[in-house]
Amino acid sequence: MTLIDGKTVSRKVLEECRADIAAMKAQGVVPGLAVVIVGDNPASQAYVGSKVRTCADLGLFSRHIALPAATSQDDLLAVVADLNADPAVHGILVQSPPPPHIDEAAVVRAIRPDKDVDGFHPENVARLALEDPAAFVPCTPLGCQRLLIEYGIETAGARVVIVGRSMIVGKPLALLLMARGKGGDATVTVAHSRTRNLPAVCRDADILIAAIGRPEFVTADFVKDGAVVIDVGINRVTDPSAKNGYRIVGDVNFADVSPRCAAITPVPGGVGPMTIAMLISNTLKAARLQHGLAS
Ligand code: GUN
Repeated sequence: MTLIDGKTVSRKVLEECRADIAAMKAQGVVPGLAVVIVGDNPASQAYVGSKVRTCADLGLFSRHIALPAATSQDDLLAVVADLNADPAVHGILVQSPPPPHIDEAAVVRAIRPDKDVDGFHPENVARLALEDPAAFVPCTPLGCQRLLIEYGIETAGARVVIVGRSMIVGKPLALLLMARGKGGDATVTVAHSRTRNLPAVCRDADILIAAIGRPEFVTADFVKDGAVVIDVGINRVTDPSAKNGYRIVGDVNFADVSPRCAAITPVPGGVGPMTIAMLISNTLKAARLQHGLAS
């Protein structure tokens, strides 16, 4: 069984980004990312903190905008409008989920599509479906695809089952893996909470991807012998023996599933670290597109 090591692959991607950033700076362009967070969700604060630290480490320009939970929709839209107009900012990310009074879809639509490094804007969703290379593709799906490529796991002709149909992971990942070309050409099934006979559907998969947000939901009876399992889940479960009272588990019951697999991602240390690496990579793509630089 191969453990798919997202920390090592993410470091490789970030080192490639570091070299690209140096080359862009030599051409007078400093790539910039703005990260906006509304409210004080501790998991979101942790993600945003690590995004901002990664930017600093790589020499990217970053703006971290932390707004109070009571921020109005109009005030948030005004911040987005400011960032749309700021030439030092090439990529904009508004951390999800925002507080319930915020209309997230409207905020996403307000982001300039060529600064939408999350790939959530309808224009980028359409571009991904159209297999347009200028599409911004959501970072977590890109990270999953990159792990498969780096580990030489063939997707062409493979049966992929994705459990979860979110706009952040399941749907864009399905589009990405069925697109033509490297890391694509798969036969993709998207399953979800209403799927009949879910374990049997999953057992058909050569590559099983769990992105449902339910701790340790996928057990050995979901997995064909020799399958590759990608666990996108990041769930906090209470654990009185842990020092902060919780631990992080995936959507896959690792101990149960791993003996069956040809390869599997651990949680933490699998898909998680890839998301930030692909965010930086998307930010460089945005800066190149906005400045007409070759990739
Ligand atoms: N929350 C969890 N994942 C993501 C992501 O990829 N982008 C944003 N903006 N928020 C998230």
